[in-house]
This record gives sequence, C-alpha cells and structure tokens, in this order.
Amino acid sequence: MARWQDGKAAKWQSRKMVKSQNSEMGKRMNAKTSPATKSNSVGAATGTVPFIDLKAQYRALKSRIDSRIQSVLEHGAFVNGPEVVEAEKKLAELTGAPFAIACASGTDALTMPMMALGLKTGDEVITTAFSFIATAETIILAGGTPVYVDIESETFNIDVKKIESAITPKTKGIMPVSLYGQIPDMEAINALAAKHKLWVLEDGAQSFGASQKQKRSCNLSLVAGTSFFPAKPLGCYGDGGAIFTRDEALYRAMKEIRDHGSESRYYHTRLGVNGRLDTLQCAILLAKMERYPWEIEQRERLARRYSAAFQPLVSSHKHFSVPKIQPGNHSVWAQYTLTVANRDDFQKKMNERGVPTAVHYPRIMPDQPWYQKNYRGPTMDWTVARWAAQHVVSLPIYPDMDEATQDRVIQAVKESL
Ligand SMILES: Cc1ncc(COP(=O)(O)O)c(C=O)c1O
Repeated sequence: MARWQDGKAAKWQSRKMVKSQNSEMGKRMNAKTSPATKSNSVGAATGTVPFIDLKAQYRALKSRIDSRIQSVLEHGAFVNGPEVVEAEKKLAELTGAPFAIACASGTDALTMPMMALGLKTGDEVITTAFSFIATAETIILAGGTPVYVDIESETFNIDVKKIESAITPKTKGIMPVSLYGQIPDMEAINALAAKHKLWVLEDGAQSFGASQKQKRSCNLSLVAGTSFFPAKPLGCYGDGGAIFTRDEALYRAMKEIRDHGSESRYYHTRLGVNGRLDTLQCAILLAKMERYPWEIEQRERLARRYSAAFQPLVSSHKHFSVPKIQPGNHSVWAQYTLTVANRDDFQKKMNERGVPTAVHYPRIMPDQPWYQKNYRGPTMDWTVARWAAQHVVSLPIYPDMDEATQDRVIQAVKESL
C-alpha cells in the first residue's frame, strides 16, 4: 500500500488510542447526519456514537496545536505569516506537487484555478452529476457551464467512458471529483483531455492523502483543489483549502488572484479575490499534518474492518453494497458509504441504536432547484447518479475510533438492514 512517511505513521500507531467522545460539532458539520437520540460524553460503548470525533483528535494533538497557535499569537502576523509558507511547503511535499497555494476554502481552491485558466461565458466544463454542490457552483462562478456526466455504479465517480461523448467545441476542461476519498481513473481522464486539448482540474476536496498508482491526489492533473473544512480528512479549525499545480505560470497567476489580483503591493494586473488562508489555520494544519500519515492508515484499517464485516451480507440483502476500491487506488475514506434498499427506514433504525448516519448526497447537482432552473447545458442520462442519491448512506469513521465503538456500528447495521 502507498504509505506516507512510514516512520511517522508507525510512531503514531504505537501511541495509545484516545477514547472517542461524542462530537456535537461533527453532527453540525454533516448537515444530513441523522443525530442519534442519546448522547454520552465519555465514549461510545453506550450512548451515541460520534459521526466524527474532532475532540478526540484535539486531545491527541493538544500540545502541538496549542503551541503552534501560541506562537502565532505571539508573532502576530495573522495574515501571510510564516506558517502560511511553511504549510504550503509541507502540503506540496505531502502530495508531490511542485506548487501549493493555501487558500480560504475548497470552493476558492476550485474557483481560482478556473479564473486563472481564463474560463469565459459559454465555455463548458465536464464534471460529474453526483457531488457536493460546490463542484458545479464554482464552474458557474468562474463563468462557465457545467456539463454533468453520469457516474459509475461501483465507485460513484464520473463514468469515464461517458466523458468523450459530452465533449463539444465549447468544452474547455474536465473537473473530475474524487468522491468519498477515491480518485477516478486519472490516466484515462488525462489522456482524453490531451486528445481534445482540455485542462483537468481535480476536485480533491475529499481526497487529500489518497493515492492512485503511487501518485497522490492533487498531483494527478494540471491543477487540483482540496478542502480543509473541519470534517474533511485533513481539516483545519474553520474554512480552508489549497490549490496544487505543476505549472509555474498557472501557479503565479493563482497566487496573484488569491491576493486581489496583485502582482505587487497595490498594483493589480488581474481580477482577483481575497482568497487567503489565515496564518492560524496554517499553524493548525502544520500540527495536524504531523499525525496525518497515521490517520490515513487508521481510516484505511477501519474501512477494511467495516468491509470484512459487511461483505457477507451483500448477497442476502437487495441493493446492499459496500465501497469498492479500484485496483491501484488507496482511498482516504473521507466517507465510508454503503447503499441500502430502504434508506429512511435504515437511518431510523440506526438512529434508534445510537448510531448517526449521513447522506452524501440526497439529490444530484442538476436536480437542485436553482441549477434546474438556470441550467444552460445539455440534459443527459443521469440514471446511475439518481439511483445513488436515493440509496447511499455513510457511516461514522474517524481515525480515533476504537474497535468497541466500531463494533457497535457494525452490530447496528446488521440489525437495521
Ligand atoms: C467535492 C467537494 N468539492 C468542493 C467542496 C467545497 O469545499 P469547502 O467547503 O471547503 O468550500 C466540498 C466540501 O464539502 C466537496 O465535498
């Protein structure tokens, strides 16, 4: 398996795992989470299982995070401080991408590359029909029209076989999404893009840390954006994101755009935004990145454990499936997502057993009211994506989850199918 910095991961592996604690924040951050009824502040052997547990993560990293924050408070460079450059260097290292730019959110991390690439009204960008709305939103904000392609039933990622027929003379780029932490077939996508002279922008908001054939998410295309929203695999303590590229000219353009399009102080050569990431958030990311390789391993271990427990149930339950990871891929398990026949009933029963679940996402992007009303692109066949929107359901997963807690989730799933 593609491990990050094996030594560091092993160091963290040997640390005592911190018991899980119920996380109200986690619930809030997953709008579609169905909160379980009872709560328990000392762990999940009884009471409510957290959907994600950021408090446990904070307890494990407290001294590092606190000292990093303290140091920013003392030097006082809250915008463009030294931690920003340090975090960018570390982020680039972790992905292998030559250039990284920290920015204010995952949404900015997708919008700014398209601004730099010069997207114009009428230009089309091919993307998946099934993602968080920011994917389509950023294409429109940057002036383009999203063209939604249906998904593969196994991975829920864009169906690469259907991309070519969606290309028109107006197509300028492809924005694949690495949904739930798994990267789509980037070799095939890049080959199509090269053939038709298109750019590729990976929406890696959910996949920072994932890999494909030993290469990491955010370093598999011309440019990529990720999100550090707190619930993401690598999250900061507020909104945040980063852009990655291998193209120096594009890097320089995006850096200017991040800072009001300024080439130098008070000299604005292009239209920009305020897309900077605060120094404090970069300091928090730096503290969290030290343990991140270990966290990825824990996510993968927990996902394997879930799949081993659920696989035997697949043949006996209609529409029940466990996540499928394609050969050569390592997911970062932003979500562990099943499909079930009757989702409402399943979520209700899970809830009664103290296990929250979440739906990512209940409606495909072209079926969202504003997008339906204002859509200027072609209407295509989104049958698989619509099916997924009705059947997917995600389970709690976070690096500090202990096996007793996970066993409760497994038992609840068995009783709720
Ligand atoms: C696939 C995808 N793209 C883009 C974003 C936007 O990221 P942010 O919330 O940091 O703006 C998200 C966030 O959930 C996402 O899941």
